[in-house]
Amino acid sequence: MAIKFVPEKNLFILTTQNTEYQIRADKYGVLKHVWYGMRTDCDMEYLLDYPQVGCTGSIYEAGNDRTYSLDTLPQEYSCAGVGDFRISAVAATHQNGSSALDLRYKTHSITKGKYSVPGLPSVYEGGRSADTLEITLKDTATDTEVTLKYGVFEEPDIITRCAVIRNPGSAPITLTKAASVCLDIRGGNWEWMHFHGRPTMERQVERVPLFHGIQESSSVRGTSSHHQNPSVILCETDCTETCGSCIGAAMVYSGACQTAVELDKLNQVRLIMGIHPELFRWELKPGEEFNTPEAILSYSSSGFDTLSRNFHKIIRENVCRGKYKLSERPVLINNWEATYFDFDEEKIIKIAEQAAALGVDMLVLDDGWFGKRDDDCSGLGDWFVNKSKLPCGLDGLGKKIRALGLKFGIWIEPEMVSEDSDLYRAHPDWAIIIPGRKPMRGRYQLVLDMSNPDVRDYLYDSISRIIRDCGAVYIKWDMNRSICDRYSHCLPPANQGELSHRYVLGLYELLEKLTTDFPDVLFEGCSAGGGRFDAGMLYYCPQIWCSDNTDAYDRAKIQYGTSFFYPVSSVGSHVSAVPNHQTGRKTPIETRAVTAMAGSFGYELDLNTLSETEKEAVKEQIIRYKKYRHLIHNGSYHRLSDPLADNYAVWEFVSDDKSEALVHGMVVRTEPNMISCTVRLRGLAPDLEYRLDGTEGVYTGNALMNGGILLPETVGDYAPVELHFVKSEE
Ligand code: GLA
Repeated sequence: MAIKFVPEKNLFILTTQNTEYQIRADKYGVLKHVWYGMRTDCDMEYLLDYPQVGCTGSIYEAGNDRTYSLDTLPQEYSCAGVGDFRISAVAATHQNGSSALDLRYKTHSITKGKYSVPGLPSVYEGGRSADTLEITLKDTATDTEVTLKYGVFEEPDIITRCAVIRNPGSAPITLTKAASVCLDIRGGNWEWMHFHGRPTMERQVERVPLFHGIQESSSVRGTSSHHQNPSVILCETDCTETCGSCIGAAMVYSGACQTAVELDKLNQVRLIMGIHPELFRWELKPGEEFNTPEAILSYSSSGFDTLSRNFHKIIRENVCRGKYKLSERPVLINNWEATYFDFDEEKIIKIAEQAAALGVDMLVLDDGWFGKRDDDCSGLGDWFVNKSKLPCGLDGLGKKIRALGLKFGIWIEPEMVSEDSDLYRAHPDWAIIIPGRKPMRGRYQLVLDMSNPDVRDYLYDSISRIIRDCGAVYIKWDMNRSICDRYSHCLPPANQGELSHRYVLGLYELLEKLTTDFPDVLFEGCSAGGGRFDAGMLYYCPQIWCSDNTDAYDRAKIQYGTSFFYPVSSVGSHVSAVPNHQTGRKTPIETRAVTAMAGSFGYELDLNTLSETEKEAVKEQIIRYKKYRHLIHNGSYHRLSDPLADNYAVWEFVSDDKSEALVHGMVVRTEPNMISCTVRLRGLAPDLEYRLDGTEGVYTGNALMNGGILLPETVGDYAPVELHFVKSEE
C-alpha cells in the first residue's frame, strides 16, 4: 500500500517511488498539511512552527493559546469564514445567510485501486498500481461534509486529488467555491510558472517570482482557454530542467478554471486550483453531493525534465483512452489551409489523390461541408451535407476517398449554432442567450446550451449519423468561441450560476457516449486551435490540435510550452505552406516537418502546389516519421533548449531501453562567423556507446550528456536539425 495511517499520530503518509505527502488530523481535528516533497521516512511535523501573529485569531478550543491559528498553519483544505484569512478552497452559504464552514476530521478509509469521479474525466489505473485515501471532514454546525480523495500512483510519482461535498442536513446550502486542490508549502524560495497566451500563440511560458498576495492564472471563458492553461508549476528559484525542486499541478477539466497562488505574511505559499468561483454557484439540496473535478500533482527534486516526464506518462497512459491511446496515429492531410471554405468535390479529390501518392494515410475534410456554409457567418448546427459543394454526398465522397487507399475523417463544431441556420430558427431557446439582451457573437456564432438534454440528443443523433453515413474514422471536434451571456432555459433563476459547470458536464456526457459507441473513431479536440488543450479533453480525445499557428518557428515555442504537461502524442501538428498563412514567414520544408513530427503528424496544404523536389521531400518525411513514430510517441521527451531565449529550438526523444535517441529542431538565425553551439543530450545510458547516423562518430552516453554534441553548421534561417543516435553494435 502506498498509503499508511499512523493511528497514534493521526498521520497519513502517501508514498510514491520518490516522493511523500503527509497530512495530520491534529488534536482539534483540524486537517493540517505537513509535507509534500522527497521521501523522508520521517514525520515532518517538526518543521511546523506556531508563531504568534497579531490579528490572526485562534480557534475557540485553543482557549488562550494564541499560537494556534488556522491563519498560520498549513491547511489541507482551507475553509472560508472561520479564521484562515488566506485564499480559501471551499465556501458555502447556509439557509440563515451565513457563509462559514469549519471542517474537522470525522473518518477515513484506505482502499486498493484508484477512485473515479462520477460524470467527470479522471486518471484511471490502466495497469498501474494505485491506492485511494478518503478523508471525511465535517462541519458540525450544519452537518456539511467534505470528503477529500487522494489517488496515489507510486510510479510515476503522481498524486491526484478531488473533493466531494455532501449535504446530509435538512436545509439546502449553496456552494460558492469548491476547489480541487489546496496545497500549502512552507520553507524555500518559490517562483511560479504558468502558461499564458492567445489564439495562435498558446501556452507561452512565464516564470516569475511570487509577490506577497494572490496571483492567479484563470479562465472565465467557459473553456480552459488559449489564454491561461489550467496547469501550473511552483519551483524553487534555483530550479532548472535538470535540478531543483518543483511541483506541477494540472486540472482534468475543460471549463472555467482558477489557479491562485498566495504568498502569505509568513512567506508560506498556498496553491488553490479548481473551478473558477466567479462562474460557480451550486445548490446542494438535502441528501445531495457535489464532485469537484480532479487535479493531478507531481513533485520532482530533479527539475522540470523529470516533472514533465511524470505528467507525460500519466496523461498518455492513464488519462487518454481508447483504441488510439497508444497505437500509431494516421498521417493526415487536412484541407483547411489548402482551401478554407472554397472547395468542391473535385478539389478535395485532387488533394486526396496527391496525398495518397505521397504516402498520407487519411484525408480530413474541414469546415464548410454542411448547411449553408461558404464563410463563417452561417450554417453551424445544420449538420447535413451541402450538395452544391459535394453532390455525391458525404457517403459518396467517403467512398471515393477510400478508393484512393485513404481513410476519411471530418470536422464538426457541435457546440455551436449560427443565427442563420435552420437549427437556430427551429430552436432559438437552445442557444445560450440572456432573454431581453443582445448576445455577444464570437465568430458570428452562438453557443448551444450543453446542459440541455435535448441539445445533446440532437448532437448525438447528428454526429452518429455523420459517422455512419460517410464511414468517418476520425472526427475533429472544434469549439471556436468563448462563452458569455450565460442563461439556460433549463435552469430556474436561482440555479443559473450552475450553467458554466453543467455545460462542461453535458459536453463530457456527450463525448462519453460517442467515444463509447464509436470506439474505432479517433477524436481530435480543437478550439480555434489550442484553446481547450487540457487533460479533461484528452480523456476523450487522445490528440488535440495544438494551435492554428502552423508557422514552424512559432510552433516550436508553442509546443515547448505545451510540453511541460502534455505528451507529444497529444499534440496535433501539421506541415503547412510558405509563406505561412499566419505569419508570412518562410521556413524550409524540412524544418516544418521536424517541428510537426513532435506530435501527431500531418499536412495542411494543397500538396499539388509543391515542386517535384518538395513532393519527394514530403514522401521521404512520411517514411521517416513512420520510422520514428514509435520512438517519438513512446520514448521520453526532453527539452534541450529554451526557444524563447536561445537561438536554437531543439528537443530530444529517447527510447525506453535507451538504445536510440533523436534530436530534432532548428537553428533560428544563421550568422557569419557563427559561434558554435553545443547541446547536451539527456536520458541516455551513461556507459553505452552511440553512433551518430550518417557519420563515423561514436560517443558514450556520458560524453553526449556531459559534453554534448555540436549542432551542425547551418545555412539560412530556421535551418532544420536532425541527429539520430543509435546504440553502437561494435
Ligand atoms: C478553427 C480550427 C481550424 C479550422 C477552422 C475551421 O479555427 O482551429 O483548424 O478547423 O476552425 O473553421
